[in-house]
Amino acid sequence: MSSPSKQSMLDQIKADILSKNVCPDLAKQATQLVFGVGDPNAEIVFVGEAPGKREDLQGEPFIGASGKFLNELLASIGLNRQNIYITNIVKYRPPNNRDPKASEKADFLPYLLKQIDIIKPKLIITLGRHSMEALLPPGVTISLAHGQLQEYQGRNYLPLYHPAAALYNGSLRQTLISDFQKIPSIIKIK
Ligand code: URA
Repeated sequence: MSSPSKQSMLDQIKADILSKNVCPDLAKQATQLVFGVGDPNAEIVFVGEAPGKREDLQGEPFIGASGKFLNELLASIGLNRQNIYITNIVKYRPPNNRDPKASEKADFLPYLLKQIDIIKPKLIITLGRHSMEALLPPGVTISLAHGQLQEYQGRNYLPLYHPAAALYNGSLRQTLISDFQKIPSIIKIK
């Protein structure tokens, strides 16, 4: 018998989140679960914070203003959304786009780790402080760790600033653009 495809294993995790009613308070207020999209065989998984308004309505991560900027960053290194997998640490939109709570990040973490373990990417790129703090050990701060490859629990991480934070801040924007340029060589050696 052939083993289940990565896509069907990912579909099962999505079904588990729904059937176990993870974060019912967020679920109640959201339009839908925003699970993740992209290539289940991708070498790179991007992990953002939580869906915003557009993402909540359309069910796909990073399709608003920060998603557009992310697409430009990907294009700058010859990638597009079909070459990667993208998801968030918290998979329902927090009301009024408030920061996700620590408990919400903790509730979704096991499912995020399962997604990553199915895809087995060479590199996990955290976008912003929230996904970095969920995946990397305490004490790692984004102002020091951004653009620096981190090996933790057998996985490779590259923490980056969140595109939404960098969108209207000239110096963060430049930092994010130059951190992105490190991705191709990291992928080559990993
Ligand atoms: N910001 C995020 O962190 N994730 C999204 O999906 C959209 C905006």
